Amino acid sequence: MILKIVKEGDPVLREQAKAIPKITKRIKKLAKDMLDTMYNANGVGLAAPQVGISERIIVIDVGKGPIVLVNPEIIAAEGKEKDTEGCLSIPGRSEYVTRAAHVEVSALNLDGDTIKVEGSGLLARALQHEIDHLNGILFIDYVKK
Ligand code: NI
Repeated sequence: MILKIVKEGDPVLREQAKAIPKITKRIKKLAKDMLDTMYNANGVGLAAPQVGISERIIVIDVGKGPIVLVNPEIIAAEGKEKDTEGCLSIPGRSEYVTRAAHVEVSALNLDGDTIKVEGSGLLARALQHEIDHLNGILFIDYVKK
């Protein structure tokens, strides 16, 4: 099911999203709907607040298959890389943002297992961008006016 993507200015995008205590049927359905919504919008990542749900789940696909992360936390970050970035909640805008070049993230998968995801380049950028959404941060916050 394709969900409605909320746009910048919606207060849900500025909330601290709640941790997900347990992987339920509802969460599995949400993950599937978020992936459908992301692919439909030709995005590489989507966070639950972007579909109006203030809970800690993100989906990413940088061309290597879908990744679903529940309660993701960045546990290591290295290097710096500046590249362009956009967001499905801020259509038509793209800006240079400096991010860590390599990150390691710990999260739950949909089986409730703790997993680690490591990424560089676009995957590192997407992980940082989507986790920011769970903390009410948008990429434009890094751009000096
Ligand atoms: Ni975004």
